[in-house]
Amino acid sequence: MNQHAGQIAVLDFAPADEEFCEQVIHGLSQQPRTLPCKFFYDETGSALFSKICELPEYYITRTEMRILRECGREIGDALGRGIELIGLGTGAGTKTQILLQHLDAPVVYVPVDISREQLTQSSIVFRKRFPGLEVLPVCADYLQPFDLPRRNRKPTRTVVYFPGSTIGNLEPDDAADFLFKIAGIAGPNGRALIGVDLKKSKIILERAYNDSAGVTSDFNLNLLARINRELGADFYLRQWCHRAIYNEKIGRIEMHLISKVPQTVTIADAAFKFAAGEHIVTEFSYKYSPAEMIAMAATAGLGFEKIWTDEQKLFGLFLFTV
Ligand code: AVI
Repeated sequence: MNQHAGQIAVLDFAPADEEFCEQVIHGLSQQPRTLPCKFFYDETGSALFSKICELPEYYITRTEMRILRECGREIGDALGRGIELIGLGTGAGTKTQILLQHLDAPVVYVPVDISREQLTQSSIVFRKRFPGLEVLPVCADYLQPFDLPRRNRKPTRTVVYFPGSTIGNLEPDDAADFLFKIAGIAGPNGRALIGVDLKKSKIILERAYNDSAGVTSDFNLNLLARINRELGADFYLRQWCHRAIYNEKIGRIEMHLISKVPQTVTIADAAFKFAAGEHIVTEFSYKYSPAEMIAMAATAGLGFEKIWTDEQKLFGLFLFTV
């Protein structure tokens, strides 16, 4: 189905509202209780995430952008001339713009994102900025099956760009399956460019997810506010608090919402009782060493070609061949 927003035709596979309700009720019925992190990104959540990306403590976005700026020419050479770029979860497209600037005559750009608003806005910007480029946005939860739009120009190869270490928000088995899917999307002779947050000290990591301005806390709590807004639930936000801890043994940040008092919350026809101190898991953010990432990609049939990183080895941009 094509939806027209202004002059931008967006291929639409966005999840239905019923799916939101079903998944929230399912997640809160589990022990420990969970909420899927993909639902962070409504309009308010996307705006809060953009603010997170600019926080002094949250080095991830800044570092990936620096790598793209400093190594852009080398990355462009490695990807080749006349490519199709498929960006998964590219949001406002800030990083992709830097990447595209360094590419040699790319022919097609397909941004795939769950946030229709960001997709429409960024597509307008991209069409202005890169007039020779065919921009074909797809609104979808890219973890679910979606079709690619028909393109008018034939590229030399397809490159799938999965930025921002979003791969870390998947369980490792799901991440390996997803890399396999990426290999399928890129096809023979394709490439995968994957941004990955690398393992580092607990102090740096916990600071990044417990920022002093409280933006990550607002981002986390907005999930409850969204459930109230869209599903008519009655979460009383003041009775919840944000916490992020780094589990060194597993190598992941664990983000929680903690109930400050005993309370009951109703959503649709369901009632959920929370004890004081009980938590809802809202997000895992796995961190990988280069060797772990390369091994995981190998299980998905991706061959390691190159890693670009920063001086402190905070973040890695991995290039794989299909
Ligand atoms: C989108 N994703 C890679 C972010 C992360 O770092 O795991 C989401 C996020 N959660 C809290 N801060 C940022």
